[in-house]
Amino acid sequence: MGGGWALGELVPDVEADSTVGHIKVRDYCKDGWTIIFSHPGDYTPVCTTELGKIAAYNPEFENRGVKLLGLSTDSVEDHLGWIEDIETYTPGAPVLYPILADPDRKITVALNMMDPDEKDANGKPLASRALHIVGPDCRLKLSFLYPGTTGRNFDEVLRVLDSLQLASKHKIATPANWQPGEPVVISPSVSNEEAKELFPQGWETFKLPSGQPYLRMTFVE
Ligand code: BEZ
Repeated sequence: MGGGWALGELVPDVEADSTVGHIKVRDYCKDGWTIIFSHPGDYTPVCTTELGKIAAYNPEFENRGVKLLGLSTDSVEDHLGWIEDIETYTPGAPVLYPILADPDRKITVALNMMDPDEKDANGKPLASRALHIVGPDCRLKLSFLYPGTTGRNFDEVLRVLDSLQLASKHKIATPANWQPGEPVVISPSVSNEEAKELFPQGWETFKLPSGQPYLRMTFVE
């Protein structure tokens, strides 16, 4: 991500009106995990499917202690009208999360959510499909940056949340295509001495041609 809010940095101290009132973004992120996600525009087809889908996943986010915060560059009035469409397209999934309004794009820029290519009918720049995961310390842990043409996969969002939350509890990392319940790798910074204390359940060291014992697999919960 060029410029803007980067991994490890505090969430920008910005505020805006939303569908549930005025929100100070950093305060909203305090004391828990937060997903902040943006959309190119209200009353657009892919966005309508995405906002419904993320509302349908709300119980999964609640189980993980994660709050949601949407952003679209249109007005609160537009958002409130659009929510009716979203809830009709995805029945049984009420839009319970706030959606920030950002007609002048200030929040979108501060949160590194602009799309350099997409423009609205009046030639004004649009937000991308950004999705930022913010940790309980209010720092950026992970970002997706998708263009308007590609709707997001919310199963992948849950998967990376599970990885982030596990890695915040243990000195581990999750390998390629990892799914919850599968083995994890012990972080390279952990010596075998330390690993004996941290992982009393033991681990398996994968034998590699280099002979270097760096790929150590274990299970954690
Ligand atoms: C959509 O939501 O359908 C959309 C928005 C911007 C660009 C392309 C598609």
